[in-house]
Amino acid sequence: MAEAPQKPVLLTGASGALGRVLARNLAAQGWTLRLTDIAPFPDDVPPGCTFTPADLDNGVDILRLAEGCGMILHFGGISVERPFEEIVGPNLRGLFHIYEAARREGARVLFASSNHSIGFHEREVPLDDSCQFMPDGYYGLSKAYGELMGRMYWYKHGVESVLVRIGSSFPEVKDARMLSTWLSYDDLTSLCVRATLAGKTGCSVIWGASDNARTYWRHDARESIGWAPKDSADPFAPQFAGVVSDSPIQERYQGGAYTIMGYSRKTPPPGPLF
Ligand SMILES: NC(=O)c1ccc[n+]([C@@H]2O[C@H](COP(=O)([O-])OP(=O)(O)OC[C@H]3O[C@@H](n4cnc5c(N)ncnc54)[C@H](O)[C@@H]3O)[C@@H](O)[C@H]2O)c1
Repeated sequence: MAEAPQKPVLLTGASGALGRVLARNLAAQGWTLRLTDIAPFPDDVPPGCTFTPADLDNGVDILRLAEGCGMILHFGGISVERPFEEIVGPNLRGLFHIYEAARREGARVLFASSNHSIGFHEREVPLDDSCQFMPDGYYGLSKAYGELMGRMYWYKHGVESVLVRIGSSFPEVKDARMLSTWLSYDDLTSLCVRATLAGKTGCSVIWGASDNARTYWRHDARESIGWAPKDSADPFAPQFAGVVSDSPIQERYQGGAYTIMGYSRKTPPPGPLF
């Protein structure tokens, strides 16, 4: 059996799409997981795991759940573009509760950030992990805030983080953009394993995408945590290369469809800003 962490691992968002995949795959590797979500866990709770319902907005519950944990895989929260007021509780206050729990326990955090924290970068300009935040909505803004919180807790409190800017993690590629952004479930799982088992991570940023030839991204901390994706969107290219929208804004920016949600500019800004 593969190596398992010595201390329990807290997995938030366990009832969501990625949480369910991780619960299944990590439990199969012999991990002791504390699963939590505001929604009931829809599957059988895997052996070695427990499920406790909790709202990320309830700091006391989150502190209790994290007691004794060495790692928090933080996948819970609002995962799509929503009005600001809906995002504040789970993604802003909730994240503060996660980092306070990590500080108390001396735990490391993997934060499921998103490409939407940088979504208004042009597709044509390859990005390094140190690029400017360019959120494409309130959801992306909450992810930028989350990454900055991770950075603050590292410099101020020594809490380690792996900040994963997930592209598109789905069972299969669905359109042309995903030829650049797709992250397979197996690569997501191995990334969580390496982020947890790596000796040190400091505060690292990783582009959460498989080995896609059409990637928008380069240079991150993957080597230092020993992660290399094994899958690729490339075999899907013949099927999806022409599957694009009829929106020039959506096709211009890395964030795709999120960039035009609630868009009210009369004319788009000129060329690349950075
Ligand atoms: N799937 C992707 O391609 C992708 C891309 C970028 C980032 N991410 C991030 O990865 C994480 C998981 O994504 P997903 O696709 O599984 O999303 P999901 O919506 O399926 O799962 C999120 C889970 O968080 C839970 N949640 C929401 N509010 C909560 C609250 N107040 N308290 C406790 N739990 C709450 C939901 O019930 C849900 O089960 C999210 O943070 C998302 O932003 C995912």
